[in-house]
Amino acid sequence: MKITIFGSGYVGLVTGTCLADVGHEVVCVDVDADKITRLNRGEVPIYEPGLESMIRDNREAGRLRFTTDAESAVHFGMLQFIAVGTPPDEDGSADLKYVLKVAETIGKHMSEYKVVVDKSTVPVGTADKVHEVLERTLEARGAEIDFDVCSNPEFLKEGAAIEDFTKGARIIIGTDSEAVRRGMRECYAPYNRNHEKLMFMDMRSAELTKYAANAMLATKISFINEISNLAEHLGADAEHVRHGIGSDPRIGYHFIYPGCGYGGSCFPKDVQALGQTATEIGYEAQLLEAVEAVNLRQKTKLFDKLDQAFDRDLEGKTIALWGLAFKPNTDDMREAPSRELMEALWKRGAKVQAFDPEAAEECRRIYGERDDLILATRRNDTLEGADALVICTEWKAFRTVDFDHLQRTLRTPVVVDGRNLFDPQSVKSAGLLYYAMGRGDSLRRQAA
Ligand code: UDX
Repeated sequence: MKITIFGSGYVGLVTGTCLADVGHEVVCVDVDADKITRLNRGEVPIYEPGLESMIRDNREAGRLRFTTDAESAVHFGMLQFIAVGTPPDEDGSADLKYVLKVAETIGKHMSEYKVVVDKSTVPVGTADKVHEVLERTLEARGAEIDFDVCSNPEFLKEGAAIEDFTKGARIIIGTDSEAVRRGMRECYAPYNRNHEKLMFMDMRSAELTKYAANAMLATKISFINEISNLAEHLGADAEHVRHGIGSDPRIGYHFIYPGCGYGGSCFPKDVQALGQTATEIGYEAQLLEAVEAVNLRQKTKLFDKLDQAFDRDLEGKTIALWGLAFKPNTDDMREAPSRELMEALWKRGAKVQAFDPEAAEECRRIYGERDDLILATRRNDTLEGADALVICTEWKAFRTVDFDHLQRTLRTPVVVDGRNLFDPQSVKSAGLLYYAMGRGDSLRRQAA
């Protein structure tokens, strides 16, 4: 099939590349000329394991092209995917200007039947808006050309996006048109071989499914973080509680890891946007508001624990920080707990020596050069002259630590672990003060 993808960001690139990889002919179009030039040189603007070589192979095979020429891209594909950004507005709702602009572009240039596919995460009702814009644009041209719009939300996790695309649990398609069903079935056939993954529904349900999935996952995280905070006060260990409840298959082990809060480009934005949609229709989404509030508070906990450990005297202290990205296997720092922590530390006159296997460049891009931030190239270099260590991201490479060496190197033996990576007993027996999430504090108290 011939497929056009508007937007060469995270979702567009992964979608286009994975569809080319199974033999479709794909053109990716973007308004950012610099990005397209780089992609045509073989440079991939995002870090996603496996993507670079997949793009290279498919470009070499002639199945994947990148262009800024929207007109020829509209003519190219029968399927026109919209995968452009929907940044949050000031009030938290998703800004649709890029999505609707693409709809207008398609309407301006199309000369035969097209299926326009909403891939971007968009509020319920957006497919109808895209339909309206297309209709209006065609009318203005005096063109009578048939088209359909459908919703096909993505469920890609950063760091595992290719696997999620190729082996995802479901492919959701919101449409009421038989032609769309046929087209989308053909498009996804190579990824729909072992069991039926395609789920057809109306457009609004498809749009809401995306938000509901992310809001549910965010709710699980905020729930366990709430329990974890209670455990700290009650002298219980949240990790035991996690095991205890996860063993019930109705609850399950996934997404109940206590931590320093969720970040990334999806959960914070989508929970907010769904809340905003609720407000617009006059519904008070109490649970969603609580999920967000608990998460915002959770992100301040690393700082609070340090502040407590140093009796509120952080001025002039040097803090080693492991993990800048919002989660492992990505360089993405959007809404990352590390940012909340660093900014709070700087405000209080402390210095940060940070290490992340992938996100150092991104950190430099966000914060620039500053005296109170050192970006180390090796994990243990951050410890030199540091008063304490804080772990913000659970990169695999942080899991093995020589606690005796850590105890000898840190000026004050304080370890704040935002991801509960270690057995508290092993850390403590090396003479370190261990503050973890929902466990360290109570265990430390018991030992005292
Ligand atoms: C998420 C969804 O998983 C994906 O389906 C959707 O399409 C986009 O949003 P992503 O943002 O890439 O993907 O990250 P994910 O792996 O889901 O993690 C999100 C955040 O939750 C991270 O900050 C992670 O550290 C945190 N998290 C996750 C927890 O704090 N505890 C958990 O138990 C699980």
